[in-house]
Amino acid sequence: RPRFGPYGEHQGALINEPTAATAVISCDVITDRRAELAELFMIISDRIGVLTGGAPTASDDPSRPPDDNGILGPSYPGGKLGVVVGVGASLFDDRFGLADRKPVGLTSMRTFPNDDLDERLTHGDLSIQLTSADDDVVTHAVRDLTKHTRGLMQPRWRINGTAAAPRPAGAPRNLLGFKDGTANPATDPATLDRLIWVGTGQPSWAAGGTFQVIRIIRNLVEFWDRVSLQEQELMFGRRRDSGAPLDGDRETEAPDFAADPRGQVIPLDAHIRLANPRTEHTDRSRILRRSWNYDLGLDSNGQLNQGTLFSCYQQDLQRQFEAVQTRLIDEPLTDYISPVGGGYFFVLPGMADKDDHLGRSLL
Ligand code: HEM
Repeated sequence: RPRFGPYGEHQGALINEPTAATAVISCDVITDRRAELAELFMIISDRIGVLTGGAPTASDDPSRPPDDNGILGPSYPGGKLGVVVGVGASLFDDRFGLADRKPVGLTSMRTFPNDDLDERLTHGDLSIQLTSADDDVVTHAVRDLTKHTRGLMQPRWRINGTAAAPRPAGAPRNLLGFKDGTANPATDPATLDRLIWVGTGQPSWAAGGTFQVIRIIRNLVEFWDRVSLQEQELMFGRRRDSGAPLDGDRETEAPDFAADPRGQVIPLDAHIRLANPRTEHTDRSRILRRSWNYDLGLDSNGQLNQGTLFSCYQQDLQRQFEAVQTRLIDEPLTDYISPVGGGYFFVLPGMADKDDHLGRSLL
């Protein structure tokens, strides 16, 4: 069941399964005064309260620009929008005197060997992710937030994503045709405490937060569509149609790598095998993945510019995302994907209620 509520110990929207529509906006803070940074967090928090709570949008004074952009008509209901706000390593540089408060392990996103990062799609002081079942709810919120924060932050990059209804069931499909999001850690409180929310070893202000990785990964679909089905399935280690691991029949079944030590059924370099070898030792590196598809039309050569808006959450960037990504270096799938952007962010602890605001414990 979706947890869209904006209030609580955590920013709970990040736990939700991928919604039909999302937008990620990365922004740079354009003031260097700490008091104005605090004001920015208060404005963002206030708008999150309005946007998630529902509001009338009709304007009483036609001689003034309307308060609301009107995209959702004369009023809109609450409970339709999820918001997740994170901060990048660059927020902890000299500008605001926050260097000693930086979450341990938060760096700017590393460049991995197969990456082809575009500076215009990478890093940022803040990440704001908006999610909804309705595309116009996301667009409305993007417009509202950017309008109210003008002068304090400047959008740096933005990307929209979509997730289709499961076909026929299970996880939604990525643009390579495979179900994506099947094998994820459970989201019960004990598992979230063990793998997702930060624990000891972090500054006390950070309690309740988590690390967010965003990766904009282009799918080289023209090449992919010329690969045999058998080869595609060996690359992932799962069947395309059912999503089942190659040693099983159902999507929800776990692969049994121990029963296939030489990789005769699921190759040793299959994506799922490298990403999660399912050993006692690698259980600590599990991540909570939330991925959407994106479609940016054509590139300058007339090739389809489509891909995966990958995100994941974890307690520790190095122990989890970086360990998984390092195991995936040079996997066969790298010939068909190209990471072009994204960033590392720390998702702030949640706000208790409408009188609280994001970033209060930080500032
Ligand atoms: C599993 C696709 C990038 C980590 C999967 C699966 C697919 C998939 C189809 C199997 C179904 C599932 O369990 O969700 C892709 C594509 C990617 C991509 C198309 C890039 C465009 C990544 C990245 C990471 C990652 C960057 C992390 C560094 C994982 C993990 C699993 C997984 C941990 C679950 C393995 C398991 O527990 O069985 N991915 N993936 N993937 N992927 Fe990816």
